[in-house]
Amino acid sequence: MYPVILALHSLVRWLVLIALLLVIYKAYSGWFSRKTFSKADNKARIWSIILVHIEFILGLWLYFISPVIEFFRNNFKEAVHQKDVRFFGMEHSVMMLIAVILITIGSSKAKRKKTDTEKFRTLAIWFTIGLIIILISIPWSFSPFAARPAFRPF
Ligand code: HEM
Repeated sequence: MYPVILALHSLVRWLVLIALLLVIYKAYSGWFSRKTFSKADNKARIWSIILVHIEFILGLWLYFISPVIEFFRNNFKEAVHQKDVRFFGMEHSVMMLIAVILITIGSSKAKRKKTDTEKFRTLAIWFTIGLIIILISIPWSFSPFAARPAFRPF
């Protein structure tokens, strides 16, 4: 089970990034060009939030079955000094949780805004902050302390 969830978590990251970039692009162009908030814009918002929440659930699931986290929990005093283990036990999980909360708040705030420009502006601001946090917290293959493959086979 663990390798499958890990591979899924790795793969869904790309879908999350594509969806967020799409919504952010639409949001800035809609905001600055004063476009109408279309059904397609709303669909993109909904799909991005679904993907972000799926990724969150996979991450949470990993937190309970990962041997890395098990080691982190059982050997906290020692593990907290090991950058790679601490990254997944603390930094990655907490930062991603914050990003998911910000993106969720942004999405629901945008939904409630009265004008189309306000909807676009709200999405642009909240999603950009969320995306930056996600980009910083992903264990990229070039990361100096928690490098992970860009694509993990199932
Ligand atoms: C949008 C949110 C998230 C993204 C984009 C993301 C992305 C990633 C990526 C790319 C990996 C490396 C996978 C691999 O080794 O192939 C990873 C690992 C991991 N993530 Fe996330 N993650 C997110 C949210 C979370 C959350 C919220 C949690 C926990 C509550 C979490 C827990 C973990 C754990 C425990 C691992 C490492 C598991 C292991 O190596 O055993 N992730 N994540």
